[in-house]
Amino acid sequence: MFHWRQLAMSLLLALALPAQAALEAGHPTVLITGANRGIGLEFVRQFAERGWNVIATARKPERADELNALAASHPRVVVEPLDVTDHPAIEALGRKYADQPIDILLSNAAITPRYKSAFKRVKGVDFDMARRSYEVNALGPLKMAQVFMPQVEASQQKKIIAMSSKAGSFALGPKMPMMYSYRASKAALNMLMYTLSFETAKKGVTVTLLSPGTVNTTPGFKMPQGISPEESVRKMLKVIDSITPANNGQFLNYENGEVIPW
Ligand SMILES: NC(=O)c1ccc[n+]([C@@H]2O[C@H](COP(=O)([O-])OP(=O)(O)OC[C@H]3O[C@@H](n4cnc5c(N)ncnc54)[C@H](OP(=O)(O)O)[C@@H]3O)[C@@H](O)[C@H]2O)c1
Repeated sequence: MFHWRQLAMSLLLALALPAQAALEAGHPTVLITGANRGIGLEFVRQFAERGWNVIATARKPERADELNALAASHPRVVVEPLDVTDHPAIEALGRKYADQPIDILLSNAAITPRYKSAFKRVKGVDFDMARRSYEVNALGPLKMAQVFMPQVEASQQKKIIAMSSKAGSFALGPKMPMMYSYRASKAALNMLMYTLSFETAKKGVTVTLLSPGTVNTTPGFKMPQGISPEESVRKMLKVIDSITPANNGQFLNYENGEVIPW
């Protein structure tokens, strides 16, 4: 008897398979979180243009029109669903790509401050948001590193990179009462990656934090001092190319690779 449900399943599988088969041996591979918009999307674009295998993750791939268009025009870009607070989902993705060397694990996803709430004083701190920022911005990259460490170790370049922010630096962050949750989550991320760097050194894996500069990623809003995602990512790629094991545990500036003080 003919089963429509079986036919639908086979069609879905057939549609899913070419995406998996898109990664090609002989090309370096990057895994990027939060790849559906902003800096993450631009990283996908520029790595894809270099001919890399790109595993681009997004919370809701079905709504990631620009990312899906990039994947359609670049055969080695694969889109995967991932919320970085969903640890079983990270583990499942790790199992799916167990045999795939990953040259660069790029933790980019974050809860970033909305401009209206950025300047709220202590009275206005939203503690649920603070807890969630820690989950996404700090623990998300740590969980990604925990799960994907074997794939990074198996690669040529062996780099773990997390997008941080000068706002999380005690030395260079704004000397103003603002962005409590975000700044604390990025300072925590810095400490987690710094700590991780002591165990990756033995494995030849280099852990680095990057500041992307002030980047205009909010649609319809331009910070006067802001740069475009294209410029930020182009400059960060130069820095990423130049990273060596001597940079393990460092926080680097997008423009020139200078070390940013904690
Ligand atoms: N733009 C700047 O000026 C600037 C400055 C310093 C540092 N940074 C850092 O650079 C990185 C990218 O910034 P951006 O400006 O491109 O940010 P953005 O435009 O706000 O994009 C954030 C990305 O993270 C994703 N995301 C949020 N929560 C997530 C979760 N739980 N699981 C998975 N993905 C999640 C978002 O997905 P959804 O679309 O599903 O929400 C989106 O793809 C961030 O780490 C940010 O802190 C940015």
